[in-house]
Amino acid sequence: MAAFGSVFMPQMALTRFEQGAWSTPQIVPADSISLHPGAHVLHYASTCFEGLKAFKHSDGSINLFRMEKNVARLIQSSELLSLPQPDAATLSQMIIDIVRQYASDVPEPPGSMYIRPTHIGTEAAIGKAAAPTATSMLYVLLSPVGDYFAGGSKPLRLLLEQNGARCAAHMGMVKSGGNYASALQPILKARASVQADQVLFCPGGDVQETGAANFLLIDGNEIITKALDSSFLHGVTRDSVLTLARDMGMIVSERELSVAELLERAAKPGTEAALSGTAAVLTPVGTLIADGVEHKVGSGEAGPATLKLRQALNDIQWGKASDKHGWLTRI
Ligand code: COI
Repeated sequence: MAAFGSVFMPQMALTRFEQGAWSTPQIVPADSISLHPGAHVLHYASTCFEGLKAFKHSDGSINLFRMEKNVARLIQSSELLSLPQPDAATLSQMIIDIVRQYASDVPEPPGSMYIRPTHIGTEAAIGKAAAPTATSMLYVLLSPVGDYFAGGSKPLRLLLEQNGARCAAHMGMVKSGGNYASALQPILKARASVQADQVLFCPGGDVQETGAANFLLIDGNEIITKALDSSFLHGVTRDSVLTLARDMGMIVSERELSVAELLERAAKPGTEAALSGTAAVLTPVGTLIADGVEHKVGSGEAGPATLKLRQALNDIQWGKASDKHGWLTRI
């Protein structure tokens, strides 16, 4: 099986912002783009992206999961990075058009078509270190995928990083390339030193998120996760899982969670933890590593609440349960 996100469909949908207006979107080859070496994105990281998925149902239909929310987040990220404002209806139509074009390539469950809208500043203007790009390019790439984590649903090992942050505190909610680049060194070091799968960033003891997914703690009937603020990504999967948890009668506590409380709760036998994200779906966390000490989360295995929530999410995505929140767009 090819690595997640390493295979692409040969075409993508693309529009350019030039002279104050967006061009009519086109379907173009996805093997290359042409950029001036002085393009704003290459120097000042004016780039943001999204990750959403299309699912094939047993009736053959193709369904996009929570497209509106991902489109809205890309618009918000663009605004916070001073990129030109994309139009929600146009971007949604670009997503629909390119996925329709490759409908027959959408993998059967448990696979899906990962959709990567990407927005970059293209103006050749290295003098604009403190000014926005005047031009940009917005394109939608497709990649048929399976599991993001190589071990599938095998419980993850997370290293708790209490000194460094994932990114600047006011930029966490922006889905920008720079945030992923800045989280990379801690992740590589954690892999090499303690064989961790991911780093859970907890600056000053505040449990935030990992480099590529949100963190949820499940203690009995309660899910605890950080309340939305600008310091971390407002995950669409996080929102979906919390909604499903409420539907199941669970208590959802969106609030501050300290490392001390996390480790205290993790020590109880029934506690569970999980990472949520479009790519991660809901992947169990089995071990937390803090200050050189390994702490099992509950039994250290994938727990029943995590598996039940993951199944409930998959059932809606795969058309096996009623889409009662109206999350799917059938195309
Ligand atoms: C996603 O979950 O869609 C992301 O953007 C994370 C990425 C590391 C694959």
